[in-house]
Amino acid sequence: MAIPLGDRFGRPLRSLRLSVTDRCNLRCQYCMPEQDYAWLPRDTLLSFEEIVALAGGFTALGVDRVRITGGEPLLRRNLTTLIEGLAQLPEVRDLALTTNGVLLADQASALREAGLDRITVSLDTLDRGRFRALTRSDAHAGVLAGIDAASRAGFESLKLDTVVIRGVNDDELVALIEYGRGVGAEVRFIEYMDVGGATRWNRKAVVSQDEILQTLSVRYGAPVPLAGRGSAPASRFALPDGTTFGIIASTTQPFCADCDRSRLTADGVWLMCLYAQAGTDLRRPLRAGATREELVHLIRTVWSQRADRGAEERLGLDAREPLIPLAALRKNAHLEMHTRGG
Ligand code: GTP
Ligand code: 5AD
Ligand code: SF4
Repeated sequence: MAIPLGDRFGRPLRSLRLSVTDRCNLRCQYCMPEQDYAWLPRDTLLSFEEIVALAGGFTALGVDRVRITGGEPLLRRNLTTLIEGLAQLPEVRDLALTTNGVLLADQASALREAGLDRITVSLDTLDRGRFRALTRSDAHAGVLAGIDAASRAGFESLKLDTVVIRGVNDDELVALIEYGRGVGAEVRFIEYMDVGGATRWNRKAVVSQDEILQTLSVRYGAPVPLAGRGSAPASRFALPDGTTFGIIASTTQPFCADCDRSRLTADGVWLMCLYAQAGTDLRRPLRAGATREELVHLIRTVWSQRADRGAEERLGLDAREPLIPLAALRKNAHLEMHTRGG
């Protein structure tokens, strides 16, 4: 058997996140708070055939989990065609998608039929007015309808992701848990991260895992940690009544040591880390006619040199400000969280 591919810290390459567009139909304040953005030029976007061809290079090296992201992935036309193509890769045993839910009501069952296993919907608030303030959109009812449709479409799992921000939605933790229980979804609370694009981030706005657990303890009794986290970003817990939830504590308790993830932008730039400042252009060799062996060789070489531990490095900083200054973001869309897909 081939020797498993490890990076400089011995971490395997297992999970690939594919961004299919950098566009989004919301403007969440933790991700896209600005008025104007520079978008990737359309002719640089990978076709579905190109995405599947590159994904095949990754699966040859051990990737068996693929997640489709954006921007907002459901903005990409005929996305089911891509899902069908990815579902046919024999090594892919888990095919998931992260969406803001706005366009989900109409698409949920078609996504499931195309071969999507799991779905995660971002849901930061249950309050329509707050949603409008947070996202600059009136689509709240549509998101809830999307979650409803997903819960009926028979996915292997449905998760709801909430970025918790002090003074914005930190009083909704219990309400979100209750809502998740009602729709059969596992809620995950995400610590606010100082990633590229989060230009309004400040340390005080971060609600830590410890605080989240404390708040939930008051209402439900102490949550019990669940074992078997593996390389997943979320620590999972059970409430005394058996309801489970997760916390993604990237800001206060990073999990880089177990990170087996990387991401491909919609224009084919392969990024190792959410915090990485540069990536590897795979579009150019692909369009220049590189063979599958050549692509696999390139991916293997880059991964074997990977030493990223972005969130851990950030934790070591004394003064912590948004990662990338606005002027730099304006010049390079690849530095934005919405381009790299979280
Ligand atoms: P599962 O496959 O269900 O475990 O999904 P996931 O938790 O990997 O994916 P999801 O898209 O739901 O991720 C939720 C959030 O976790 C992202 O938007 C990020 O905020 C954070 N996250 C995901 N991957 C990473 C990562 O590699 N590093 C860090 N620091 N945070 C991550
Ligand atoms: N902090 C934490 N998560 C973020 N996301 C985007 N920006 C941030 C940030 N600053 C992730 C969340 C959200 C998805 C759209 O992207 O998971 O639900
Ligand atoms: Fe992986 Fe970078 Fe996230 Fe750490 S910060 S877990 S290395 S993507």
